Amino acid sequence: MSDAFKLDLIHRPRRLRRNATVRSLVEETVLRPADFIAPLFVVDGKGGPEPIASMPGVLRYNLTDLVKECRGLAKLGVPAVALFPKLDKKFKDDAGSAALNEDALILRAVRAVKKAVPELVVMTDIALDPYTTHGHDGVLTPDGRDVANDATVAILVKMAVLHARTGVDFVAPSDMMDGRIGAIRRALDDAGCTETAIMAYSAKFASAYYGPFRDAVGSASAAGTHHLDKRTYQLNPANRREALAEVALDEAEGADILMVKPAGAYLDIIRDVHEATNKPVAAYQVSGEYAQIQAAAKLGWLDLERTRHESLLAIKRAGADMILTYFAREMALALK
Ligand code: PBG
Repeated sequence: MSDAFKLDLIHRPRRLRRNATVRSLVEETVLRPADFIAPLFVVDGKGGPEPIASMPGVLRYNLTDLVKECRGLAKLGVPAVALFPKLDKKFKDDAGSAALNEDALILRAVRAVKKAVPELVVMTDIALDPYTTHGHDGVLTPDGRDVANDATVAILVKMAVLHARTGVDFVAPSDMMDGRIGAIRRALDDAGCTETAIMAYSAKFASAYYGPFRDAVGSASAAGTHHLDKRTYQLNPANRREALAEVALDEAEGADILMVKPAGAYLDIIRDVHEATNKPVAAYQVSGEYAQIQAAAKLGWLDLERTRHESLLAIKRAGADMILTYFAREMALALK
């Protein structure tokens, strides 16, 4: 008889889970629209929004639609966007020269967004992968077998200054070259852009979860492969201490925000970084994490809204102060 059976317990943790109001009282982590940074893809021309097969619900926007989307995000309380260009193949070359074009798509996008929604924080990616035919984040060594570190940094520095002068609030170097944060900080200061901040992709792992993003910006197809091997610059997913060493370097070199990427499979790293630094920590819930949830939801195997929320809650609980996520808009809507 269940009634007759009584445990002699002092502690009954379930007392704090009895109903929704008690649960809300003891809730430790809360998501809000201001936690999110929305990554957005931009294309040239006047065509309508382009779907990305491996990222259902994510679109590439022309400039007009991009501005509309940014207005909507700002209205929902999302404070920041991270812009990524998709270039036509004919503008790509081995050196990623289009990255330094003064009239580059990304710069026109920054101008349009800052003009229409000045309060929205605009971040741009500093790396060459949307611009190179080989899809790598930098220029190659003479034998073509690796990405050249210092030659790449020399280009990224110019790119960062160009973006800063165009009005971005944050440059976000995602290339993982050695010494790029220090070089970019110095160049920004020399150019008088002392207010432009740096969000460093500090612990960026060589991850299989970037696959859908490479469809979105066309970096893999430009290279004629489905698999881009970036292991000579991105971190080995097996390494935790090496990630912390990278983060310490970026912090010492002047990064304002330190990022861990991907997020969901790297919660231990987010926690480690949160504990190792007093700088704000960003985490990037990347394209593959998004695609996984969308795919399972489409099959009816997972509940989209709940899984989405839980995945982001876990990232914040681990220690992220802000999260780049393709769910930013839907989350902000759901949290209203
Ligand atoms: C490249 C870059 C990548 C992402 C952001 N910047 C991919 C890569 O390193 O190939 C991935 C983002 C995502 O998967 O959502 N500079």
